[in-house]
Amino acid sequence: MTLKAYPGPSLSSRTTLRLGGKAMAELVAEQESDLEHLPDRILRLGGKLQILGRGSNILAKDGELPIVLLKLGFKEEPKVLFEEEKSIVMHVSAATPLPRLIYWLGKRGFTGLEGLSGIPGQVGGAVAMNAGSFGDEIGDTLHRVRIFSPEKGIHWLTGDEFSTGYRSFRVNAEPGFFVVTKVELKLQRARQEIIQEKMRLHMARKKASQPVSSWSAGCVFKNPQADAPAGMLLDKAGFKGKQLGGMAFSEMHANFLVNTGAGASAEAFELIAMAQEKVQKQFGYNLEMEVKVCPCN
Ligand code: EPU
Repeated sequence: MTLKAYPGPSLSSRTTLRLGGKAMAELVAEQESDLEHLPDRILRLGGKLQILGRGSNILAKDGELPIVLLKLGFKEEPKVLFEEEKSIVMHVSAATPLPRLIYWLGKRGFTGLEGLSGIPGQVGGAVAMNAGSFGDEIGDTLHRVRIFSPEKGIHWLTGDEFSTGYRSFRVNAEPGFFVVTKVELKLQRARQEIIQEKMRLHMARKKASQPVSSWSAGCVFKNPQADAPAGMLLDKAGFKGKQLGGMAFSEMHANFLVNTGAGASAEAFELIAMAQEKVQKQFGYNLEMEVKVCPCN
């Protein structure tokens, strides 16, 4: 089999911020081995590869974009591979929705990722940016990661072949792009009721402090320091609720940029630049983007 190609996919219908123009094409891999054709197809199409996952951490630009999207159309059911007294190792496909994985873990009494309850992404995207919330990070649970890379094709990475940091994941010895296809996670056992109660608490905290039902891409900026969260700096600098056209910093949490209905990327970028300038001037912090700009410069 090879990759199927669909022309002119819309970014606004594929991202949770509902922004962005059109890509050149969307390639769909129906099985993992289709990815072997990826470098050649991208070269022939002439655009830059962009994997959106569920599009939950993406700020896409307006207009005709010189990018080629990749969608993973294959996934297996999560499965326990081996069990020890207090821990287990399981595998999960990259295209599995994160909420589905969290639910699955809660049902079986495996702890370590409850903090990620309510994050709408896919497992592959969560790994590629080391998603985290309420003290849990997916990077801390990674046992092995299966990727496709142009250098080595499809292969497993063991713990010493990748590095994770605050919202970052890096493949150590391969400088080109990579596609996460599957991961093995190591998790601890705990009582199901305790895990599910933690999940409920995190969801409630999230709903109380973040605009979970708005069109957003999660936090826009990384926290420059643990004791200087971007949300607090933006709030103090007067950006909470600040609106430009159809885009605004949320009234609920200043580090969430929301699309109020008819927002445009240009408005988002203008608000971001204004906020960065003011926070730099007022507090001396350089706010680094957490959302991925697509295409990146
Ligand atoms: N704050 C304000 N005003 C605001 C927003 C926040 O004063 O408008 C204050 C809060 O009162 C609190 C502090 O800033 O004292 C930190 O806020 P919060 O507890 O909401 O956490 P955060 O640092 O803003 C981080 C992650 C979130 C994650 C939460 C919960 C980053 C950039 N953000 O937010 O992750 O859900 O902790 O653990 O690391 C994301 O990555 O997209 C994301 C939303």
